Amino acid sequence: MEKHETCSERTVERQRDATNEDCLSELTKGRCPVNFPVAVVLPAAGSGERTGLSTPKQFCKILGRPLISYTIHAFERVFWIDSIVVVVAKESHDLMTDIIQKYNHTKVKIVEGGSTRHRSIFNGLLAFSEQGFGPKLQKPKVVIIHDAVRPFLEEDFLLKITLAANKQGASGAVRPLVSTVVAATTGGYLDHSLERARYRASEMPQGFIYDIIYQAYQHCSEAEFKFGTECLELALQHCGTSAVLIEGPSSLWKVTHKQDLASAEAVIKESLSQSACIITGECTETQNLSTWMKNGLMAEGMWVDAIPNIEQGMTLSTNRNLIKLSVYLNVSGQASFSQENDEASAIMTLAEDAQKRNIFLYCVRLSYSKDSTECERTMNKLCQITVALIRDRSAAFSGQMLYA
Ligand code: CTP
Ligand code: MG
Repeated sequence: MEKHETCSERTVERQRDATNEDCLSELTKGRCPVNFPVAVVLPAAGSGERTGLSTPKQFCKILGRPLISYTIHAFERVFWIDSIVVVVAKESHDLMTDIIQKYNHTKVKIVEGGSTRHRSIFNGLLAFSEQGFGPKLQKPKVVIIHDAVRPFLEEDFLLKITLAANKQGASGAVRPLVSTVVAATTGGYLDHSLERARYRASEMPQGFIYDIIYQAYQHCSEAEFKFGTECLELALQHCGTSAVLIEGPSSLWKVTHKQDLASAEAVIKESLSQSACIITGECTETQNLSTWMKNGLMAEGMWVDAIPNIEQGMTLSTNRNLIKLSVYLNVSGQASFSQENDEASAIMTLAEDAQKRNIFLYCVRLSYSKDSTECERTMNKLCQITVALIRDRSAAFSGQMLYA
């Protein structure tokens, strides 16, 4: 596969046995330490009973966009991940297809779910096997399993899980317990309690050598399929593979109850607010621009707290609750080449300063036209670019000038 070749070309021999820290630092330098195929299985066939809502939580909208789309995006932006198998209930197939189209997810294949989470995951794994239904996907070396309802995960942690799985056969995210675990008698009395410091909460993602987890599921008993909840345990019981446990960030929590949807919305707003776009150009019709931006962003499912601020001059607000859209207007007519150069270097300086405050700053230059069709095209492009930049939070484009 082309991507792996490119990846391995960049991978020097000594990286094979590199520690996570080495690999992370390679990643920061733009080099990829993953030189083997990686795929993801996202179980999303549950009904979300505990939310008490009629819509399964993975399809509930947060800021206009279904929760599952955020999770898919978190994997899709990682370039060393090749494919994502999303496992959904039969009745959600069309809805999932619409989501893939609307949000332009390109690495996703849909598979039909099962009656329990384990069955759904196994169906997902079968997509890479000869025994699965439909066209077979390229078998990965490592497969990451992750709940579709845990949308907040970063590339550095995925990398740790992936490299550990490749080395040890299985790996999983854990968190310290917040409460002590007790065992109750059938009558509802305390039987005994566990020593909290010795135990961990098992979270997601988990990583596996594909052949190991596939074999583990093939040996799974009916009882395990029905009542089991832990994939790492299956790898241990059926393949003798003891997983490495890696402490993950608190952001790995799972949307379980209705109020978790509100918390997820708050987290997403918070992260969006840490990106900013400066729009520059010769546009004099600030009122029109403001309306276009607001309507355009909302149509793209992006949360807008207020009409984007149209400001004269290049400023950057640190109000963390706003997506701050500042417009620097060059109303003196066509910008000369040197003016554009000055502007580009000013943006670069501002972006460097902003990044110290964890704000990624982007700039889009408008080519304003009095022709209404041309103007509409420019505005649409401007909205698309703005949404993509703010959502992706890509450090690579911070301080860069784009053209709409
Ligand atoms: N899941 C699945 N197939 C099932 C059951 C669950 O793919 N038959 C998925 C869910 O969609 C979710 C993940 O497994 O992404 C974690 O499960 P959980 O949080 O328990 O979700 P639900 O089963 O949907 O919720 P509830 O238990 O409240 O009904
Ligand atoms: Mg469940």
